[in-house]
Amino acid sequence: MQVLSVASECAPLVKTGGLADVVGALPEALAAEGVGVRTLLPGYPDVITKAKGKVVHKWQDLFGGPARLREAKVAGLDLYLLDAPHLFDREGGPYSAPGGLDWPDNAERFAALSYAAAMLGDEHAAGWEPDLIHCHDWQAALTPYYLKVLRHRPTPVLMTIHNMAFLGLAPPDRLDALQLRETDFTRDGFEFWGQISMLKAGLVWADHISTVSPTYAAELLREEFGAGLHGVIQSRRADLSGILNGIDEDVWNPATDPHIQAYKTAKGKARNRAKLRKIMGLPEAEGPLCVVVSRLSHQKGLDLLLDALPALTSRGGQLALLGSGDPALERAFHAAAADLNVAVRIGYDEVLAHQLIAGGDAILIPSRFEPCGLTQLYGLRYGTIPVVALTGGLADTVITASPAALARGVATGLQFHPVTADALALALDRLCNLFQSPDIWAQLQKNAMAQPVGWGPSARAYADLMKRLMNAP
Ligand code: ADP
Ligand code: GLC
Repeated sequence: MQVLSVASECAPLVKTGGLADVVGALPEALAAEGVGVRTLLPGYPDVITKAKGKVVHKWQDLFGGPARLREAKVAGLDLYLLDAPHLFDREGGPYSAPGGLDWPDNAERFAALSYAAAMLGDEHAAGWEPDLIHCHDWQAALTPYYLKVLRHRPTPVLMTIHNMAFLGLAPPDRLDALQLRETDFTRDGFEFWGQISMLKAGLVWADHISTVSPTYAAELLREEFGAGLHGVIQSRRADLSGILNGIDEDVWNPATDPHIQAYKTAKGKARNRAKLRKIMGLPEAEGPLCVVVSRLSHQKGLDLLLDALPALTSRGGQLALLGSGDPALERAFHAAAADLNVAVRIGYDEVLAHQLIAGGDAILIPSRFEPCGLTQLYGLRYGTIPVVALTGGLADTVITASPAALARGVATGLQFHPVTADALALALDRLCNLFQSPDIWAQLQKNAMAQPVGWGPSARAYADLMKRLMNAP
C-alpha cells in the first residue's frame, strides 16, 4: 500500500512542535506494517537547501506563481517538496515572519500545498499514485476538497487532527484566490461563523478523521474542546478514531542518548541531575528537580505553574524550564527565576531538551488540553516522573499514583484535575511526599521506564485503518 502524507512540518527537516515528530516518525513505523509513505512538504528555503531533490513536475501558475515539485530522499524519508518561491522562499518560520507575525497569505500558501497533494493523487504528477492520502492539520486540510469536489477522484483521505485549536481561518473574500466554490461556503461546507475554515473542509470531506489519542477523540465531541467544530465531529462520529502517538525510541533512548551521560536504570540519573543543576545554575536541593520543555502558550497551562510554584519551592523542590512563545509568559518566567530554585531558559534547544529530560526528577505538563503530548512519553522513558493534567493524551499515557495503583505496582506518574493552579499545587505537594519515600519513588521510576512508548501498536492501528479505507466500497 502506498500513502502520500501531507504536512507543513517534518522532523528532522523543519519543526515547531510535536506535529513534526509524528510526521517524521510515522513513515518508518508504517514501513514495518507494509505501508510505504511519501511525504509532501512545503519547499521552505532550508528544506530545499538540505534536500535539493530533482524536479519531477512543473506548474506554470500555482496560486499566483510558477512552482516545481521536487523529489528527494533525506534521513530515510521519501519526500516531495513543493518548490513555489512566491509562497515559501522567505526568511522566517514556517508560519510567521521574523518579527513573529503570521504571514498574511498563509491561507494561500497551505491551500497550494493541499492543491499540489490533490494533483499528485490525480494527474500522476510525479509518475506515482498513492492509494490513500494522509493529511495532517489545517495546513493540509483542503486536500480532500480539491481532490473530491473539484477533481472528482475517489482516492480515500485520512484527516488527522493534531490540534483542533488551529482552524485555518480566512475571510470570505479569499474564496476565489483559494479556488473554493461559493456554493460550498455553507454551514454544511467550510463556512465557519462567516469565515472560511480550512480545517472544517478537511473534517467534512475526508473519508475518515483521526486524532492523536482516544481521550482527545472523545473530548472533541464536546463543546469545551471542539473549538466550535464539535457539531461537525459529532456528525462524523462513525468515522472518528483516536490513535496514540509514539516517540522515536532511537532519538529518545537514555541508554544511547549522545547528549547526556547515558544510563540504563534510574540510578544513572544522579549524574545527569548534577550536571543539569550546573548547566542551569541551580544549587543542590532536598526536593525534586522538576523540568518543563514546552511551547509557552495558553494551551500548555504554564501560567498555572507560575501560581502553583510556591507549593514546590517551599518543600525544597526546584524548577528548570526551557520554552518559548507568548512574550508575556516569557517575561513572567524570567521574573520567577529571581527565586534561586527556579531556572529559566527562553529559546528552542534540542540538546538542552535532552539534558532536562535526563536530569529532571519529574516533568510538569499542566495543559488545559493536550491532543497527545510527547514530552510526558520522553519523561516515562527516562524515568522522569510525569505530573500531568488529566486531559487528552496525558490522560491516556500516565497511570496516576493512587493508593490502588501504588499497591498494584503500576503507577507511573501523577495526574491532577481540574486544571487549576490549586489542583496543580496539590499535585506538586504530593510529588514532594512521594519523593521523600525512596522505595516508592524508585518503584515509580522503574514502572515509568518499563512502560511501552514506541510506535508499534499505533503504527499497526494506522495501517489497519488505512487498509480498511483503501478497501472500502
Ligand atoms: P506540541 O506539539 O503541542 O508543542 P508535543 O508535546 O506534542 O507538544 O511536542 C512538543 C515537541 O517540541 C517535543 O518534541 C518537545 O521536546 C519539543 N519542544 C518544545 N519546546 C521546545 C524547546 N523550547 N526546545 C526544544 N524542544 C522543544
Ligand atoms: C499537537 C498537539 C500535541 C501532539 C502533537 C503531535 O502539536 O498539541 O498534543 O502531541 O500535535 O500529534
